[in-house]
Amino acid sequence: MIPASTVERIFEAANILEVVGEFVHLRRRGINYIGLCPFHQEKTPSFNVNPARGIYKCFGCGKGGNSVNFIMEHEQMGYPEALKYLARKYNIAVEEEQPSPEQALEQTQRESLLVAVGFAQKHFEQLLHEHDEGRAVGLSYFVERGFSAETIRKFQLGYALDGYDKFTTHALSQGYQLEVLEKAGLTQVKEGRSYDRFRGRVIFPIHSVAGRTIAFGARVLSREAKAAKYLNSPESDIYHKSQVLYGVHLAKRGIMQHEKCFMVEGYTDVISMHQAGIENVVASSGTSLTTQQIALVKRFTPNITMLYDGDAAGIKASLRGIDLVLEQGMNVRVVLLPDGHDPDSMARDLGAAAFLDYVRDNEQDFVKFKTRLLIDETQGDPITKARLVGDLVRTVAIIPDAVTRSIYLKECAEMLELGEEMLHEQVRQIRHKQYGETVKKEQWRRSANEASAPRQAPPEATPTRQTPAEEPPQTRDGFEKELLRVLLCHGNQTLYNHHDNPQSGLELAQDETVSVAEFIFGFIEAESEMKFRNALYAQVFGMMLEHYERNAALAEEGFVQHPDPRVSALASDLVQDRYFFSKIWTKGDGMANLVKIEPKEGVPKILNRYKHLVVLELIAKVQSELRQAPPERQEELLRRYMQLKEVSMYLAKLHGDRAVIR
Ligand code: CTP
Ligand code: MN
Repeated sequence: MIPASTVERIFEAANILEVVGEFVHLRRRGINYIGLCPFHQEKTPSFNVNPARGIYKCFGCGKGGNSVNFIMEHEQMGYPEALKYLARKYNIAVEEEQPSPEQALEQTQRESLLVAVGFAQKHFEQLLHEHDEGRAVGLSYFVERGFSAETIRKFQLGYALDGYDKFTTHALSQGYQLEVLEKAGLTQVKEGRSYDRFRGRVIFPIHSVAGRTIAFGARVLSREAKAAKYLNSPESDIYHKSQVLYGVHLAKRGIMQHEKCFMVEGYTDVISMHQAGIENVVASSGTSLTTQQIALVKRFTPNITMLYDGDAAGIKASLRGIDLVLEQGMNVRVVLLPDGHDPDSMARDLGAAAFLDYVRDNEQDFVKFKTRLLIDETQGDPITKARLVGDLVRTVAIIPDAVTRSIYLKECAEMLELGEEMLHEQVRQIRHKQYGETVKKEQWRRSANEASAPRQAPPEATPTRQTPAEEPPQTRDGFEKELLRVLLCHGNQTLYNHHDNPQSGLELAQDETVSVAEFIFGFIEAESEMKFRNALYAQVFGMMLEHYERNAALAEEGFVQHPDPRVSALASDLVQDRYFFSKIWTKGDGMANLVKIEPKEGVPKILNRYKHLVVLELIAKVQSELRQAPPERQEELLRRYMQLKEVSMYLAKLHGDRAVIR
């Protein structure tokens, strides 16, 4: 746990321009800064940063929040990791001690595995640099391979001593539990004896996206050894091989900058390319790509370039993996390296510039690459050709975008000397067979959703509204959010004084006033049916009420910089329209706009409309009860129905409204 006072200091120190500016090129526009949104593809900037408020908002994709939210979203970190990231950036000490083995035990299972793996990583790294055997065997190996001291540190490379159970014994002596070491894949237990999984090998730590060590790859050193070249951690609660890409924690920034991700096979390929200065690279670690791995890359870029060794027998095997990449709508390119080379040797021999030149000159679009490969193989044999065309057509059929598909078909037809229309027809058939069902289901789901849309807003939706309110809300969720907005933006304004007594229905003394917040709180609290239903909105409403009662005012910063990231994201969404689009306040019929212009008119209006919606909901409920009620209950329900109807008509007349009446 990070102490609250430290969290506060981090929030104070974090400068949104600096935090965002590290990832997005920002230009000044008025009091705001704008840039290209890092969360979605765009050509014209709709990503806004407001330095005064410490918040950002994209009007294209709707993402918004404070510095911590930005780091969480951008770096895919959890809340504590994002805080620690900012603490590091601003040199704020986080006095969260390294948990002792005893504390580690108390933590959750996952966390204890992470702690054990973290311990092992530091231990292996220390052995590599400080132990005689580590230096003589491990470090000299890396140096011989051409890894610089800086590179070795950057990838946290290590060494596991040769022996039987040296690591396990050491870890146990430090208080780590055997069970945890076993679950983390560090120790193996057989017939009551425990021994180290990694022995006499150099160690490549494998990291999560956020940069925590979750597993190891370990390479043998002796050439003649019969043992497998690489030994990897087994699957565990913290390591799911199919979801991990080696090096992604160091590559994500480069991938976004270059809008491209290189995919290689091995640990050493990644490391050598980094050392040469090419940082947008990850490795699938020898296996064919999985859907989850592709989705991971897709977070950062839609462009992926596969680098294949020249002598790759593996190309064929990985072709299937590439179909998966296409299916996710990514642009796939392929580079074949010269015979006898792999990315590791290319990077070492050529350096970054010449390597990238080679890539530029030899990069081929995947579909064309596959076509050419198939042409070579058929060697004019019509039967093989027919089979391979079928294969190719299936690949193209996978591509989600119709325009892209037809461009490919045109090119393939030319290369294969086949009729384009025939290929088109085959693709159509496959798509009909494979995707026909899903399309129908999707359409059905969508229309069903639209039909019931007004009441079906997701209960805990994070803010996604893209343009400032120009219409009054139509749903309960919408009203709840709008009322929170009024509270946060205008809550402290005076609403009524004694001059308003006739209009307000209150009996205020000469020096008494009622603020917007007090009035809203009173109104909502007065009637249990009016209580907010959306869990997040209800929570924030409660927090505001409490805050107001304690301070007799609402401080916006308290919510925008709130430690609960859901609260801060909502609060910054609520306040930002005002700061980003202040001119829009004079337009539209947004309720909050009206409140700003004329609270005396706006506040009762929005409350009455909200109440009207609640009453309409109650009417609907009574109606359905009536349909099923036994005769003895009908009269009572009917009376209730009439009352509600009357209230509803009164409210409708009051605000002369069309919008909410159904
Ligand atoms: N690999 C593995 N187990 C093996 C062989 C390979 O897990 N027995 C994985 C490793 O992630 C390795 C990748 O496949 O990095 C590529 O294999 P290879 O090209 O043989 O290894 P390199 O990374 O090139 O290692 P080196 O250059 O040290 O031989
Ligand atoms: Mn190699």
